[in-house]
Amino acid sequence: MAIRNIVKEGDEILRKQSREVTVFDEKLWELLDDMAQTMYKANGVGLAAVQVGVLRQAVVIDIGKGLIELVNPVISKRRAGEVVDVEGCLSSPGEYGMVPRPKKVEVRAQNRYGKPITVKGEDLLARALCHEIDHLSGHIFKDLVLRMLTQEEINRL
Ligand code: NI
Repeated sequence: MAIRNIVKEGDEILRKQSREVTVFDEKLWELLDDMAQTMYKANGVGLAAVQVGVLRQAVVIDIGKGLIELVNPVISKRRAGEVVDVEGCLSSPGEYGMVPRPKKVEVRAQNRYGKPITVKGEDLLARALCHEIDHLSGHIFKDLVLRMLTQEEINRL
C-alpha cells in the first residue's frame, strides 16, 4: 500500500468523467487500498479515484463506522427533502461551505470483486455518498454550495 498524492482543486482532471470499472483485478484492489490509506492519512471521510488522478469509478468512504468501498456506484433512490450542512473536500483543503444534500439515499454499486451491493445512507453518510459520486462525473461541492464559510466560522467548527 502507498499514500498517493491528492489532486487539488484547479487541476482539470477533477472536471473529467470517470470511466466504468470492468476488470476487478489486483490493480483495482491496490488502487482501493491506496485510496483508503490516503483518505485516512488526510483525515478525510471520503475519497474518489479521480482525486488520486485515476479516472475510474471507484470511491472509498469512512464516516467513522468502517470502510466502505464502492465500484461503479450510482444513486438509485433519493428521498425528497434536503439537509443543508457543512461540507469540505480533500481537494480543497481548509475550505468549507454549506451544501444541500438529500437526507437519505440508496446507492447501487459493486464491491472490489464485482459483486453487486446496495448501500443505504442517511445524514452524513448520505452526504458523503453524494459528494463522492459527484466526483465521478466531474463535479465538486462548490458546484452546489450555497455559501462558503468565513475563516471565523471555520475556526469555530
Ligand atoms: Ni471531495
